[in-house]
Amino acid sequence: MKTIITFAILNAATAYAGCMTTEQCPDLLALETPDCHQYHIFVTRGSDSPYPGHQSDLVRLVCDGLGGDCGFENIIYPANSSYAGREAWCQSAASGAVAAQAQLTEYTDRCPSSKLILFGFSQGASVTLDYLGGGGGPVGKCIQDNNPPLDRLKAPGSNVVAAIVFGAAVRAASMPYSFKGGKDFNGTSPRSEKALAGLEPYADILRDYCNFGDPVCAPSSQPAKVAQHLNYFDLYNDEAAEWVIDTAQGPSGNNTNTKSSTSLSSMPSTASGGPARATSIASSLQTTTSSTIPKSSSSGSSTAAIASSTIASLAIMLQCIYMY
Ligand SMILES: *[C@@H]1O[C@H](CO)[C@@H](O)[C@H](O)[C@H]1NC(C)=O
Ligand SMILES: *[C@@H]1O[C@H](CO)[C@@H](O)[C@H](O)[C@H]1NC(C)=O
Ligand SMILES: *[C@@H]1O[C@H](CO)[C@@H](O)[C@H](O)[C@H]1NC(C)=O
Repeated sequence: MKTIITFAILNAATAYAGCMTTEQCPDLLALETPDCHQYHIFVTRGSDSPYPGHQSDLVRLVCDGLGGDCGFENIIYPANSSYAGREAWCQSAASGAVAAQAQLTEYTDRCPSSKLILFGFSQGASVTLDYLGGGGGPVGKCIQDNNPPLDRLKAPGSNVVAAIVFGAAVRAASMPYSFKGGKDFNGTSPRSEKALAGLEPYADILRDYCNFGDPVCAPSSQPAKVAQHLNYFDLYNDEAAEWVIDTAQGPSGNNTNTKSSTSLSSMPSTASGGPARATSIASSLQTTTSSTIPKSSSSGSSTAAIASSTIASLAIMLQCIYMY
C-alpha cells in the first residue's frame, strides 16, 4: 500500500500543467456563457476536478479555431469518485447523464440553430458517452441507473456536430471511433450492446481516445501507469482541436445553413476523421473511473485554484489506483 501511494505521488509531476479553472485562464471566462452561439461546447469534467478541469485549453483552442462565435458551459454534476463510497461513482455518473441531457435540451430550446460540441474526460468521458448513446449498468462495484440515448434525428441530438472523449471508464474496445494505443482494450467496465447501438448514429462525429497503459480506459493494457490517464491534454490537444474544428465545420455540421461561419482558424483544417466508418458494434464494455469532488467553478483566489487543482490531480491519481 505504501508503495502504491509513493507511486501515485511520484506521478503527480506528470499531471496536466495547463489551465484547470477559469481563474487560471481569464480568456476562458469570457467563453463561459449560456448565450446562443454558432458553436457551443459542453464540457464534462473528470472525477474530483475543478470546473472545467483538464479540457480548459482544448475549449480555447477549438473556439479560437472556429472563429470565435463559440462558447461553452460545464455539465453540472458531482463527479464523485468511488473514493466517496461504494455507490458514489454510479450515482454521480447517472446524475451527470440526466443533467447533461437537460442542459443540452434547454440550450437547443433557446438556441435551435446552434451546433453542439461535446467534450468529456475520465468519469466525464463516460458520462458523455452515456448521455449521447444511453448508459447504465454495472460499473465496478456499483450499478449505474439507466438513461436513454439522445435521438440523432431531433434536437438536441441532431444539433451535435462533434464529440470527443478521453480516458473513459466505461467503454468498448475496437470501435470505429476508438483511437490511440489503448483502443483495442475494454475499459474498466464494458459498454452494453444497447448503449453501443445508441452511439452508432454518432460514430462519424465521435472520437474516443484511450492510451495504452491507461488504468481507467484500458486497465488490461500493461504496464498500467496513471500518467497515461493524465497526459491526453499534453499529447493530443492540437490534433484533437483540429479534428473537432474540421468535423464541426464538415458535412455533419450542416456547414451551409448556418450564419456566416468565419473560421479564421489559425489551425489548418486538415484531413479529419472522415466519413463514418460503418462498423458494427464490437463488444460491450463499460468502465468507470472515479469521480469528482465538484468544486463549483469560479470562486477563490488563483492560489486556491492552483492548490485545488493540484489536490484534484493527486486525488485522481489515487482514485485510479484504488478504484475498483
Ligand atoms: C442539420 O440538418 C439536419 C437535416 O437537414 C437537420 O435535421 C438538423 O436539425 C440540422 N442541424 C443543425 C444544427 O442545423
Ligand atoms: C471486451 O468486453 C466484451 C464484453 O464483455 C468481450 O466480449 C470482449 O472480448 C472484450 N474485448 C477485449 C479486447 O477485452
Ligand atoms: C459528491 O460530490 C458533491 C459535490 O461536490 C459533494 O457535495 C458530496 O459530498 C459528494 N458525495 C460524497 C459521498 O462524497
